[in-house]
Amino acid sequence: MAYGFVIMSYIDVLDIEEAEPTSAIKLHGPEGFAGMRKAGRLAAEVLDMLAPHVVPGVTTIELDRLAYDFVKARGAVPATIFYRGYSHSLCISVNHVVCHGIPGSRKLQAGDIANIDVTVVVDGWHGDTSRMFTVGDVGVKAKRLVDVTYECLMRGIAAAKPGATLGDVGHAIQSYAEAQRCSVVRDFCGHGLGRVFHDAPNVVHVGRPGRGVVLKPGMFFTIEPMINLGRADVKVLDDGWTAVTRDRSLSAQFEHSVGITEDGCEIFTASPTGLDRPPYF
Ligand code: MF3
Ligand code: CO
Ligand code: CO
Repeated sequence: MAYGFVIMSYIDVLDIEEAEPTSAIKLHGPEGFAGMRKAGRLAAEVLDMLAPHVVPGVTTIELDRLAYDFVKARGAVPATIFYRGYSHSLCISVNHVVCHGIPGSRKLQAGDIANIDVTVVVDGWHGDTSRMFTVGDVGVKAKRLVDVTYECLMRGIAAAKPGATLGDVGHAIQSYAEAQRCSVVRDFCGHGLGRVFHDAPNVVHVGRPGRGVVLKPGMFFTIEPMINLGRADVKVLDDGWTAVTRDRSLSAQFEHSVGITEDGCEIFTASPTGLDRPPYF
């Protein structure tokens, strides 16, 4: 969530869509695609591995430890350790936490929804992905939010192809979310990535058709919409990381890392075992 560290206003978000210098956006070749395939796959495998452990009573720090051990055992490293003072392998964002929830002693409870976000570095390439997990039985509103958010991600991905723009991607997400009476978070966005974790462009999850950066083969970026049941406004807690909805409404997020191809895009972080969205069992 690259430039999300600077809290942006609604106006700024649409300005960014216009202002991005296309020259700053790297175009990668076959070697980049090969690197991202490996990194993306490992990131997805971390979330696959965690799925059976996301149950009532587990602490979020236990999940973080499982992820750390899994990544290290495969000769890779979590990108978030030592990143801007962060010291964990995962972000775990429960219920009204929008993103950047810090693992700790909190026990997950039946009825919770949680986003788990992981970024790994494999041979210098970054694989960044997150999914929602439902803990035990969750309410109908929570389930619906999770489904709407997954659909937002996939509609954004469907819009990501050569000749289309980032405004088209944002518009695909925003129009669906709002038609479902949900809101799109403006304060954090997706980002270019590759050998750099958070790179140009900013991928704003709202937009206007035909506006913003024109997509070209070889561009790598994340799409990671954060969707709220209530209002879009967020605030960051005193720990400097945890972002929550101001109205304490539920928030959900899914994230994939993608690369623009000649005729569409490749999802680098698809689950090798089909566990892309809940229910996972
Ligand atoms: N993985 C997050 C993203 O999608 C970034 C987390 S940075 C951290 O961009 F420091 F909070 F871990
Ligand atoms: Co990201
Ligand atoms: Co992420």
